[in-house]
Amino acid sequence: MVAKKNGATLEQQLLEKYDGDVSKILAALDKLQVSKTKKKRKLSGQVVISLKSVSKTYRIGGEKVDALRDVSLEIQQGEYVALTGPSGSGKSTLLQLIGALDKPSDGVITINNEDIAKLSDRKLSNFRNKTIGFVFQFFYLQPFLNLQRNLEVPGMFARTKKSVRQDRTVSLTESVGLSDRLKHLPNELSGGQMQRAAIARALLNEPKIILADEPTGNLDRENAFAIMDLFDKVREAYGTTVIVVTHDHELAVRADREIGLRDGRIVS
Ligand SMILES: Nc1ncnc2c1ncn2[C@@H]1O[C@H](COP(=O)(O)OP(=O)(O)OP(=O)(O)O)[C@@H](O)[C@H]1O
Ligand SMILES: [Mg+2]
Repeated sequence: MVAKKNGATLEQQLLEKYDGDVSKILAALDKLQVSKTKKKRKLSGQVVISLKSVSKTYRIGGEKVDALRDVSLEIQQGEYVALTGPSGSGKSTLLQLIGALDKPSDGVITINNEDIAKLSDRKLSNFRNKTIGFVFQFFYLQPFLNLQRNLEVPGMFARTKKSVRQDRTVSLTESVGLSDRLKHLPNELSGGQMQRAAIARALLNEPKIILADEPTGNLDRENAFAIMDLFDKVREAYGTTVIVVTHDHELAVRADREIGLRDGRIVS
């Protein structure tokens, strides 16, 4: 399990180095985990998501809020992007525009070279069901459906066969550590468990693009890392493009690229 170096296990080396001080060893292991996963991957070079001079202005009464200002960016197929920035900087707005839940006030967003503002209603709902897996900041689990049914919902809309839907539900709940909660209603789950359920639900249709808004916000470190690993696995297995909003820099470094927003603009 633990890598061997010069004959001694890493555990033995760390025990020696830190004289058995558990907290120091754990801190060293944590750092190691982060750097280990920060390996560079070769990407296809194919651009799947492109934004050209995108702005979004919300108007409420006489008030105007510039949530995004002149944002241009390109994201490649299979790329893993972390979106960071202070509260109110436009992260959720950006995800909602990419997921075609809302339209930009200005500029063009293309997904696979298609201008998503020009999709017909039918194509749009197909796009949302099949291409995008959305993990919302506030989970939106159906309160009257148990976990298993909640997870199956996107599969029903996508007309996935019942047996396939059920198999995927079982394997996804295992991946997020909720196998023993399938029959529970959302209000019988903890905040972190609801969050993991929302992630499993977003993955059910094996989407080409995962948009996750603070998917680890309610999770302890161990579960947060597990979720980031799960995204990584999905990306490796299916070439899925992943965009994750996070406040946590340690989680952001697991991505291929960090895009920083401030006041609706890209700053890094
Ligand atoms: N539906 C809306 N109507 C009016 N203003 C909005 C709406 N949604 C967002 N805003 C405003 O747009 C700006 C960007 O909001 P957004 O939700 O994108 O920020 P965020 O970076 O996701 O913040 P947080 O980290 O707190 O989730 C904020 O000033 C917010 O108040
Ligand atoms: Mg937000």
